[in-house]
Amino acid sequence: MLIAQITDMHIRPAGKMAYKVVDTEALLRAAVSSILALPKKPDIVLGTGDLTDCGLIEEYELLRDILQPLPMPVYLVPGNHDRRDTLRQVFGGEGYLPPDGDYLHYTIEDQRLRLIGLDSIVPGKGHGEMDAPRLAWLKARLDEQPERPTLIFMHHPPFPTGLQHMDSINCRNSDALAALLSQYKSIERVVCGHHHRSINIRWAGTVGSVAPSVAHQIVLDLNPHDDATFTMEPPGYHLHLWQPDIGIINHTVVIGQYPGPYPFLLDPDYPAFADKDAAPATHKH
Ligand SMILES: [Fe+2]
Ligand SMILES: [Fe+2]
Repeated sequence: MLIAQITDMHIRPAGKMAYKVVDTEALLRAAVSSILALPKKPDIVLGTGDLTDCGLIEEYELLRDILQPLPMPVYLVPGNHDRRDTLRQVFGGEGYLPPDGDYLHYTIEDQRLRLIGLDSIVPGKGHGEMDAPRLAWLKARLDEQPERPTLIFMHHPPFPTGLQHMDSINCRNSDALAALLSQYKSIERVVCGHHHRSINIRWAGTVGSVAPSVAHQIVLDLNPHDDATFTMEPPGYHLHLWQPDIGIINHTVVIGQYPGPYPFLLDPDYPAFADKDAAPATHKH
């Protein structure tokens, strides 16, 4: 099973740039084209929050239009730039979001890997939270099928990343979430957005990861600082390849057109030039 994870699209109304700089519509259209051009097509696509920049109806309608060419199911969870009511209003008809209730949590049961989408947002705040009602909901879901391989997706990382100014607005009450998740051997990975970079960490008896944004990236500065700035380095997304006997293998796709592919034309001085086991010769690494 192959899962594409796109995140932090920050879609604005048509023609408007995010932060006066980022053409988020064009960048998400490029991400969709990249997914459609993959040699192995993903079975599903996850969108892990900050789907829009301001949670406006017209932003979600444009988002729906941009995602429309994807032939596989797309599952969305909200981020701090989203609004539950407008997200529900535009995407509620797709059938996976709960039609009522306080949170946009849900499970996807029709894949071999079970998927649990978590709503980590705190309206009006940049940080997220897994408070007691959300932890209780998650525990009830995990106890339904405690042995089944499960992937959790949410916006705010509940683990540290070394990006101090972003970690100050990550998912709060994360110790309680870690204590819960560490009781289950079946959690393959917790995949997140919010930090606009590709990050992996061992955490809570599983693996935590953050996908890069399909739009702008947070400046990579691991020194403590409060200067939240972004760059237009090449955007990307994550591919999670899951196999029952292996687990999840994580790849980062860099979006864009680059020279190549080229064959490996080996120099006779290469130490394994005569290695007959590695054929064809031009593809030796
Ligand atoms: Fe974001
Ligand atoms: Fe965010």
